Amino acid sequence: MSTANDRRDSAFAQRLAERAATMETVLADILAERAGQTHPRLLAAMRHAALGGGKRLRPFLTIEAAVLCGAQAESAWLAGAAIELLHCYSLVHDDLPCMDDDDLRRGQPTAHRAFDEATAILAGDALLTLAFEVLADERAHPSPAARAALTLGLARAGGMAGMVGGQMLDLGAEGRWGAASLDVDGVLRLQALKTGALLRFSVEAGGVVAGADAATAARLSRYGAAVGAAFQIADDILDHESDAATLGKRTGKDAAKGKGTLVSLLGLAEARAFCDRLIDEATAALDAFGAEADVLRAAARFVGARRS
Ligand code: IPE
Ligand code: IPE
Ligand code: MG
Ligand code: MG
Ligand code: MG
Repeated sequence: MSTANDRRDSAFAQRLAERAATMETVLADILAERAGQTHPRLLAAMRHAALGGGKRLRPFLTIEAAVLCGAQAESAWLAGAAIELLHCYSLVHDDLPCMDDDDLRRGQPTAHRAFDEATAILAGDALLTLAFEVLADERAHPSPAARAALTLGLARAGGMAGMVGGQMLDLGAEGRWGAASLDVDGVLRLQALKTGALLRFSVEAGGVVAGADAATAARLSRYGAAVGAAFQIADDILDHESDAATLGKRTGKDAAKGKGTLVSLLGLAEARAFCDRLIDEATAALDAFGAEADVLRAAARFVGARRS
């Protein structure tokens, strides 16, 4: 069994890398198409933030969920690209001095280091709005109803009751606006918003692209929620255990800033066990599918076992 999974995991790594390479060209084309329409410095900062790195896991999930539901991979490229653009914006703003104050991202200087703070903020704003421009465009999906559903879903996942709201809880948990001590449920709620909402939507978006029925959409949603929760716990474990050379971003920062994490509340071993249970939950959500869901099963294992 484990040998079969090992084989699947190495096939998975290759497939993730292939899809990431495709996504790189899709993102580069989206930016190139608008190159003449904006300030060259803004464009350069957007390219810095969006191109040349990143696992591209979110668009991968969108594409694979769409394929699982019977669509062609190409039909999900632009929806995936829109989600990745919003994710890249979230990283630019997350790294700002007023937020996590990081100087390294994807092995490169963060956007405000490579450029300046004002340019980084505007590049983030422009990536965020570009995400919606891409989704609302006819090329994203032939059906206006599907485009509207994707736009609404991304707005909800990325906004005040999603990623942005979670980032607010994350900063609050540092104690910047008064004493704050989160328990396990509080940390899980925070993480479900700041990271889980967008990852979950990445999977759901694949179902929307493919026109999945309600029961299938519900399974994808359960899978996405579990993968999303596991993803941030794994990120927090890596912040504790890994190093900047491997991760491409600074480590040890969560403890230094007093972030609310399961690692700080429960310790590494229990946080790891928690993450493993979520991976099992994600896999269980796919039980109704056959071998055609093996890629998403491998994606869940990857989230739990990733090294970067
Ligand atoms: C980092 O996300 C931010 C978190 C939500 C933890 P990723 O680990 O997906 O970053 P990239 O896109 O691969 O660089
Ligand atoms: C960030 O979480 C999640 C976002 C919404 C960007 P982290 O602050 O832990 O992400 P990293 O470790 O900087 O990538
Ligand atoms: Mg952060
Ligand atoms: Mg950060
Ligand atoms: Mg982190």
